[in-house]
Amino acid sequence: MGGEAAFPLLGRAFCRTSLNTREEVLVNWPGIHYKLAFTSKGAYLVTRCIAVVNQKGGVGKTTTTVNVGAALAEKGMRTLLIDIDPQGNLSTHLGLNTGSDELGEPSQEMEETEIPPSIYEVLKGQKTLREVISSRSSKLDIVQSSLYLSAADLELGGVVGRELILKRAIDSVRAEYDYILIDCPPALGLLSLNALAAAESVIVPVQSEYLALHGVRQLLDTIDQVRQVYNAELSVGGVLICMHDNRKRLGRAVSDTIRNYFGELVFSTVIRQNVALAEAPAQGQTIFEYSTRSTGAEDYLALVEEIVDGKEKSRICA
Ligand SMILES: Nc1ncnc2c1ncn2[C@@H]1O[C@H](COP(=O)(O)OP(=O)(O)OP(=O)(O)O)[C@@H](O)[C@H]1O
Ligand SMILES: [Mg+2]
Repeated sequence: MGGEAAFPLLGRAFCRTSLNTREEVLVNWPGIHYKLAFTSKGAYLVTRCIAVVNQKGGVGKTTTTVNVGAALAEKGMRTLLIDIDPQGNLSTHLGLNTGSDELGEPSQEMEETEIPPSIYEVLKGQKTLREVISSRSSKLDIVQSSLYLSAADLELGGVVGRELILKRAIDSVRAEYDYILIDCPPALGLLSLNALAAAESVIVPVQSEYLALHGVRQLLDTIDQVRQVYNAELSVGGVLICMHDNRKRLGRAVSDTIRNYFGELVFSTVIRQNVALAEAPAQGQTIFEYSTRSTGAEDYLALVEEIVDGKEKSRICA
């Protein structure tokens, strides 16, 4: 059942569902669509757009984006994964072709016209986000990367408002999803800035090893600057300890350091080192398709419980 309702501060909104304890409302401003849910305690944004960011390479960003996305979809949440990394690891992890070969070089076997449309065409204004979405299952959609994305930073250099291109694109489909996750490259350049400007929160995976916090201060400063200039709603949704080995003294010491530094911001769930998580991408599978009984599947399910129930539900009005 739906109908129109007027909200003093929000303009006119279309009332979509009416449940016992919570009412969801789709707010339509020109070009911007948000879903708000009302509970006895207040209202919050239903769609959560989360950027998975750390400029340090190989810390677990892509593994986290893929498997959190898959777990959210398993729980029945409509989820969109966006690969904004020119390396295209999320895309290849899920069996999509980005035009690169195994070395990350342009594939000799592929014609240019065979490379599927990607986030690159969206950033260049050649396609809408909707036109480049592909479905993996009824609840899980993907926007893939392509090797052309590596040129985007330079090519968009002179474009006014270039930091907000992704945000505008996401706003056009936002209301169709419960969660939108963006897998960022290991750099704080224009692509990561676009992700931070579009997101409500950031998950920062950190590897449980020596120098885990290296560069984290710079990342927090960048988040702060994005908050001031482009996106006042942006918050750190959580710091996630990845590839943890509790049997090693170093692993325990690093995890203590991370918790001392970030306190409450660290997710209780820790992603343990698990070989199945490293093997699944070669099969084009998520951990839930590759090995449901692995500790990797267990950990990512626990993380998603935390994300859905806990700190990821920031309220916008009390
Ligand atoms: N918990 C884990 N246990 C074992 N291997 C893991 C785990 N998490 C990730 N890996 C593996 O570690 C490598 C780096 O992980 P991943 O690609 O997710 O990092 P990333 O931060 O996205 O890297 P990049 O910065 O290059 O994008 C991959 O080979 C991945 O399969
Ligand atoms: Mg990655």
